Amino acid sequence: MSELHLVAGGSGFIGSHIVEGLLAAGHQVRVLDNLATGYLKNLAGLDCEIIQADAADKEAAADACKGVSNIFHLAARPSVPWSFEEPRLARHANLGTTEALIYAAEKQGVKRILFSSSSAIYGDSPELPKTEDMEPAPKSPYAEHKLFGEYALAEAAERFGLESVSLRYFNVFGPRQDPSSPYSGVISLFARWLKEGTPPTFFGDGKQTRDFIYVKDVVKANLAAGQVQLSQSARIINVACGKRVDLLELWDTMCRVGGFTGGEPIFQKERKGDVRHSLADIQRAQEELGFQADFALEEGLRRTICSL
Ligand code: UD1
Repeated sequence: MSELHLVAGGSGFIGSHIVEGLLAAGHQVRVLDNLATGYLKNLAGLDCEIIQADAADKEAAADACKGVSNIFHLAARPSVPWSFEEPRLARHANLGTTEALIYAAEKQGVKRILFSSSSAIYGDSPELPKTEDMEPAPKSPYAEHKLFGEYALAEAAERFGLESVSLRYFNVFGPRQDPSSPYSGVISLFARWLKEGTPPTFFGDGKQTRDFIYVKDVVKANLAAGQVQLSQSARIINVACGKRVDLLELWDTMCRVGGFTGGEPIFQKERKGDVRHSLADIQRAQEELGFQADFALEEGLRRTICSL
């Protein structure tokens, strides 16, 4: 049966792909977005209702939740460095939204929240891969805001039975990721530099590693998490490929895939709050969601570069 779902942050990079995925699966979709970092053009041609308001505004969030089954919560400013520069604004954008959407869910009887959480929560704990049961070690306000969001959802489960799945994304990339800020995701910046013929900048030695996941796979995980019968352990799930690559290798691969020669790299000081190595254990995603990434890194990069 077709249900109405809310995508908070639906005009952003990942949000707009989720809107597309939900519509393709036959659902009705309402978007709540203040357009602070998203774009209406990301939703061009998609048959969804759009409410332009801040998801951290409790009453606006409650209005947007009327008749809604699930909330896909992507309203955030996903940047570690920005959260150090603007901690109050970052708290509003990354935790205020979660608190307001929980309030809205309670008021309107929403069944489930699919929360876009982050692997930043694991911080620099030396063990790899990261499993969901590890002790959190946030290294930045951004990571703390995501962790507090998970705690708020756990509290809401106890208080009024709200269902939720916190999807801890590792490094997401793909078409429509905005490269316009120095804080943009590294693959979007690399892709722009390749296109312009600009040499890449590495913060640190470029040997830090990340577990990159293509955005269509993140959509797949969200759709599965929206439907699955919830067990206690399904409340926090890593969303990743379970493979890691260092940034120097990533740049080389992108040059090869894009047929570019690239330029002489520039090395700058390591970024504050930067995690050195990141790799997910994906067993829980497999067991609870039947999830496995469909897109290998190279295929995702090819599609991303082709979309430019
Ligand atoms: C990213 C996400 C964050 C998510 C986290 C989970 C973005 C913008 N941020 O953070 O929301 O919670 O993954 O792991 O997607 N780098 C360079 N040169 C550049 C830009 C970046 O060397 O020009 C380096 C960074 O220092 C970092 C790595 O690339 O070591 C990845 O950076 P970035 O894409 O910003 O993501 P994370 O900080 O890992």
